[in-house]
Amino acid sequence: KLGYFSYDPGFVSTASCRSAITYIDGDEGTLLYRGYPIEQLARHSSFLEVAYLLMFGELPKHEELQSFAADIRQEAMIHETLRKFFEGFHYDAHPMAMMVGVVGSLSAFYHSELDMGDPHQRRVSAIRMLAKMPTIAAACYRHSVGLPFVYPRADLGYCENFLNMMFSVPSLHLGGDEAWYLDPVAVDTLDLLFILHADHEQNASTSTVRLASSTGANPYACIAAGIAALWGPAHGGANEAVLGMLEEIGTPERIPEYIARAKDRNDPFRLMGFGHRVYKNYDPRAQIIRKACHDVLARFSPNEPLFELAMRLEEIALHDEYFIERRLYPNVDFYSGIIYKALNIPVNMFTVMFAIARTAGWVAHWLELKADPEQRIGRPRQLYVGAPRRDYRPIEQR
Ligand code: SDX
Repeated sequence: KLGYFSYDPGFVSTASCRSAITYIDGDEGTLLYRGYPIEQLARHSSFLEVAYLLMFGELPKHEELQSFAADIRQEAMIHETLRKFFEGFHYDAHPMAMMVGVVGSLSAFYHSELDMGDPHQRRVSAIRMLAKMPTIAAACYRHSVGLPFVYPRADLGYCENFLNMMFSVPSLHLGGDEAWYLDPVAVDTLDLLFILHADHEQNASTSTVRLASSTGANPYACIAAGIAALWGPAHGGANEAVLGMLEEIGTPERIPEYIARAKDRNDPFRLMGFGHRVYKNYDPRAQIIRKACHDVLARFSPNEPLFELAMRLEEIALHDEYFIERRLYPNVDFYSGIIYKALNIPVNMFTVMFAIARTAGWVAHWLELKADPEQRIGRPRQLYVGAPRRDYRPIEQR
């Protein structure tokens, strides 16, 4: 159980299923980033330190982390011409639609001059991608609410900068107490959420990035492909769907109705934020996020009815034999939306938040694949269940 799969050698040689970045044991509910337990990283680390660990394999020394953070600040701006790109979207375009388009377009601004055969230039591309995601994400939000874009600031950290670019309205206040978004509880909670969402082995969006990377496509195009895959409600879109579900349920009295629907094979309704392809035990990230909910709700949204409702729903589901038999537990998305809501992040931006954090994992996998001398194009095979060989028949004979 070293995290390698028992695929035939030919398939493993494509390196699309061999990785040293993240290890998950779904039965134990274990998640390790480069060997470090997620619980310890959540308690002691920061998102940028975790991103460095995922990308380069080791926890950074102090000066390495300082230099990495300086590189990120240096690369946080986006080309001014890119602003026009946003004007092409109607103000109510889904932010994930803007993210896919704008991130893909970075290929036209930042890629041509770099040689992906050079490890240093690959590092530049990876850092550039991680640095620009918060700026692009905040710009998607500002465009959707008709506010001017806010530039990243050299005196703010990664999460502070993002929250400032999202919520700062200089004309309304000069900072100070009104700048709730720079409150340490908000910044630290967001940093924690980004750590917990940073990577997760061969999930659908990361596998998409790896498959695209294996063809030699440029990193920005590969990340745009990952963003597209993440958008689905069965994957990264679940956090947005959980909030919608909780708001639809509305009161604890209606929980049994929705539990019954979730169990009904003829009803397409699924309990969003429950179940997992790999975890058949509690998702360790969900446990950490549930605890973090208490702090941020106490500070920004005391007695948040949706949190009470979520805990009640969890309690009922975990005692229902349907969920017990199928080993369905809350996953990372079940509580994260409640925190984002308390931080005034609009629901349609929840999956964008996931994409910002997961960019650390995506670029780490891109770097790993590009550095693998045995790397070949990924080429999954299929189980053919179609028609046997048959001869063509002219239309008059059909
Ligand atoms: C993420 O892969 C990753 O690592 C992803 C992720 C990451 O960090 O990248 O962890 C992030 O995507 C988390 C998952 C977020 N999605 C949701 O919360 C959506 C709701 N969950 C379900 O859609 C579902 O659980 C999936 C998509 C997550 C997993 O689907 P599977 O693998 O098909 O589920 P399964 O094989 O475990 O299902 C077993 C049974 C089935 O019923 P039976 O055929 O046995 O009767 O459980 C049922 C399923 O229908 N089931 C559910 C359910 N999830 C599974 N029934 C009701 N509600 C659910 N949520």
